[in-house]
Amino acid sequence: MIRLAHFSDIHLTAQPLGWQASDWFTKRTAGWVNLRMLGRAARFREANDVMAALRHEFATRGFDHLVFSGDASTLGFPQEIHAAVQRLGVGDPGVPPGIAVPGNHDVYIRRNLRQRSFAAAFAPWLVGQRVNGDDYPFAQKVGHVWLIALNSAKPNTFAWDASGRVEARQLAAFRQLCRQLDAGPRIVVSHYPLLMENHRPEPFWHRLRNWAEVRDAAAACGISLWLHGHRHRWYYLPANEVLPFPAICCGSSTQRHRWGYHDYTIDGWELQAVRRVYDEPSQSFRDETTFTLELPAR
Ligand SMILES: [Fe+2]
Ligand SMILES: [Fe+2]
Repeated sequence: MIRLAHFSDIHLTAQPLGWQASDWFTKRTAGWVNLRMLGRAARFREANDVMAALRHEFATRGFDHLVFSGDASTLGFPQEIHAAVQRLGVGDPGVPPGIAVPGNHDVYIRRNLRQRSFAAAFAPWLVGQRVNGDDYPFAQKVGHVWLIALNSAKPNTFAWDASGRVEARQLAAFRQLCRQLDAGPRIVVSHYPLLMENHRPEPFWHRLRNWAEVRDAAAACGISLWLHGHRHRWYYLPANEVLPFPAICCGSSTQRHRWGYHDYTIDGWELQAVRRVYDEPSQSFRDETTFTLELPAR
């Protein structure tokens, strides 16, 4: 039996951000307008308080492992990603080990990929079994469960483009990696959903572009569960004819009135989830709801 904490889309920021002249000719300009003028900053204004409460949960609730499904930052600045790592206590004694994948905000512009901003900052949570020298995919074994980190985020040029993709090279490595794993439930951790609450793909400019190809690869790899974020409202999907394994969206852990994270207990092939939500007056988390999923065995 293992205990996992799943959180996502914390979207922290930092001061100063470290703007360079060349940043004004990237997607960061539109992101900054959204942040400062279109209300995004207000939606995340308590994010640092929520993070302090979240870190208290991580340190005191007996988790074996932490699962982060991306969007640590707002505009992908290394300073923001570094702030997230500091507030989470990544690699600190007293904080459980973790697994992390970047969100589209963490690879906001191409420079993020060259700098390896996310992978370098979250290095202690990127330790795992690999089939090549790339940062993703990799697998970690926690108790009897395999966690497989798959990067579905990519930089985008247009202000309105928040789409993702798992490139062919990574998908091939994912298939190869899966062949090396021994028995036990296999859980993918990725930023993007395969499907929305209604079992349909997301709108074109927000979706994982090759979601069907990725779903088929995951099914062939015997995946039992897909953990993700990107959508800021939480939901879970039981398996059905479109999706051969269940999926859980954590939603944003820090956005006002959507804030929460999930406490999973996996016993054999059964997952019991407790959704914990942030309570603003007490600046702490409380139970909101529970649900159970049977993880399909291969
Ligand atoms: Fe997000
Ligand atoms: Fe996202």
